[in-house]
Amino acid sequence: MSRHGNSSKRWGAATQGIRSAELRTNLREHSPAIFATSSYVYDSAEHAAALFAEQVPGYIYSRFTNPTVQAFERRLAIMEGADACVATASGMAAELSLLFTLLKRGDHVLASRTLFGSTISLFNNYFTKFGVQFSYVDPCDLKAWRTGVRKNTRLLFAETPTNPLCEIVDIAALADIARKAGALLCIDNCFLTPALQQPLRLGADLVIHSATKYLDGQGRCVGGAIVGDKTRVGRDVFAFMRTAGPCLSPFNAWIFLKGLETLALRMTAHSDNAQILAEWLVRQKAVKRVYFPGLPDHPQHDLALKQSKGFGGIVSFDLKGGKKAAFRLINATRLLSITANLGDTRSTITHPASTTHHRMGAAARARAGIGDSLVRVAVGLENVDDIIADLEPGLR
Ligand SMILES: Cc1ncc(COP(=O)(O)O)c(C=O)c1O
Repeated sequence: MSRHGNSSKRWGAATQGIRSAELRTNLREHSPAIFATSSYVYDSAEHAAALFAEQVPGYIYSRFTNPTVQAFERRLAIMEGADACVATASGMAAELSLLFTLLKRGDHVLASRTLFGSTISLFNNYFTKFGVQFSYVDPCDLKAWRTGVRKNTRLLFAETPTNPLCEIVDIAALADIARKAGALLCIDNCFLTPALQQPLRLGADLVIHSATKYLDGQGRCVGGAIVGDKTRVGRDVFAFMRTAGPCLSPFNAWIFLKGLETLALRMTAHSDNAQILAEWLVRQKAVKRVYFPGLPDHPQHDLALKQSKGFGGIVSFDLKGGKKAAFRLINATRLLSITANLGDTRSTITHPASTTHHRMGAAARARAGIGDSLVRVAVGLENVDDIIADLEPGLR
């Protein structure tokens, strides 16, 4: 599979994204192949038996493993500084697979109260049916995390930066709390990706991704991944995947594999554009408050500097005129896409309270500080002057 072996672990993020876990058959293709096959042919009945008994390496069926999917898994694992990765059909499938694998009736999950809406829905509406307990804390309040831990807490779960307010969670401090409680820490690394932030190196046990976002980078397909150690992820999550089947398609894996090749470059460019936009928004009269960790007065600016190599591409801001002003601004854009997705080369604009965070409910939104005047821009890779020019009329 890869001729680089362990040396790829020492490369920079750009080289890892391009060169690690290279997939090449004896046809010597330069770009990795898409293995569009559901099953594989065995040399003999004995060979089939040995494969099924896991006595020899090889491929059996693409719900278990597929060379293109495996290349994506190996490359993402290397970039996150992990030993194992299991790719899934979506980011939500990654969360579902991880929780199903780790938890049992009576276990407790302590989570950040600022999570993607479907994540909260998965926890509260589905896992509670099986007797799993959930409670939520302010992601930046370490005392709340410490006191929120229970005897049966098995997992701490957070996104950082949070969506849409870009609060920064102290990963190393949370890892310490989890360790002392005998629990695991899982970080959703979707907003910064391993190009800018490696939670496992800061002490987290597990990382999950919606590959749909920056790993793809061009808004083409849906996918996800769970990253971690060989036992929990490589053996246990893989066993769940193999049995339950929320696996990634080879075609989508190929897109993500190609996406990883430009990830480091893109994340730097997203961050640079977002920084310029955030600094411009601060100066606009119609804007009440800007949420971007790259601004020096962001409450966790120093922490962001310490634990990541960039601030990412998400900029949110409150307008003075409430929901009406937010809708007016969104409707006045011509270049930006009005869509809830993020991580695309194309900038997107959305009203979180009525879209991505609608399912949280008004009370939970109010507690999390997601107001009706909030607008989120996922800054793309267009010229930043054009992004600013598109927002200007609506703000005026
Ligand atoms: C932070 C975060 N995590 C997870 C997900 C779920 O990912 P997917 O849409 O790929 O299922 C999303 C989707 O928007 C997200 O924003």
